[in-house]
Amino acid sequence: MSAPGRSQALNPGARSAQGRPTPGRFISFEGIDGAGKSTHIAALQGWLRARGHDVLLTREPGGSPLAEQLRELVLHRPMDALSETLLIFAARRDHLQTCIEPALARGAIVLCDRFTDATFAYQGAGRGFDLHVLQQLETWVQQGRQPDLTLWFDLPPAQAAERRAAVRAPDRFERQDLDFFTRVRDGYAQRMQQAPQRFARLDASTDRDGVWAQIEQALEQRPWW
Ligand SMILES: Nc1ncnc2c1ncn2[C@@H]1O[C@H](COP(=O)(O)OP(=O)(O)O)[C@@H](O)[C@H]1O
Ligand SMILES: [Mg+2]
Repeated sequence: MSAPGRSQALNPGARSAQGRPTPGRFISFEGIDGAGKSTHIAALQGWLRARGHDVLLTREPGGSPLAEQLRELVLHRPMDALSETLLIFAARRDHLQTCIEPALARGAIVLCDRFTDATFAYQGAGRGFDLHVLQQLETWVQQGRQPDLTLWFDLPPAQAAERRAAVRAPDRFERQDLDFFTRVRDGYAQRMQQAPQRFARLDASTDRDGVWAQIEQALEQRPWW
């Protein structure tokens, strides 16, 4: 990866799309289960740290002590879609306030394994939860905060299921069928249509080197390195 290494330092005083000062950068990793997010978020963390960047690697739901407790409930207890959605946004609120915003304020690069696009894709498109309610919760909870870049790891649900089956037992979400993951994938596509500048769609069906090359390209295309 060449472009980030050229400057070594982020651009102090840069402003987010919302006009708020954001010395740091916020990159979210999205895509269906088994798409390769965790694999590549760790690789990017190592790559950035080796170049001297302050990096916060975090995830949703979870990321803060309280939000991790809420994650346990959401992932392992049966509940209706509204309860699930409210817990996810409560976790997000705490995660933003106690982890993400302080890290961005000190100039860190925040790498987040899933963020709000996952709520629209899983709870909205996947489970049919009311998108207008999600939009309201997004507005209330995030106060304009959005990732500066969202890397969408896109691949056919059947291929993702093969990768998952090779390595781990499924949780409550991963046990869903291929139709569910097809709806989730469509949900991500809709979110990208609504914010095309924020998104970089990666063809995650290629091998690891191929995916990494696409991540490099997405970063090089950003003006903020
Ligand atoms: N490009 C790739 N080609 C083949 N296997 C991959 C690739 N990326 C990740 N994997 C493997 O697929 C599985 C799921 O990857 P993971 O990063 O855990 O996905 P996610 O975090 O999106 O659910 C892991 O076993 C991982 O090693
Ligand atoms: Mg993962």
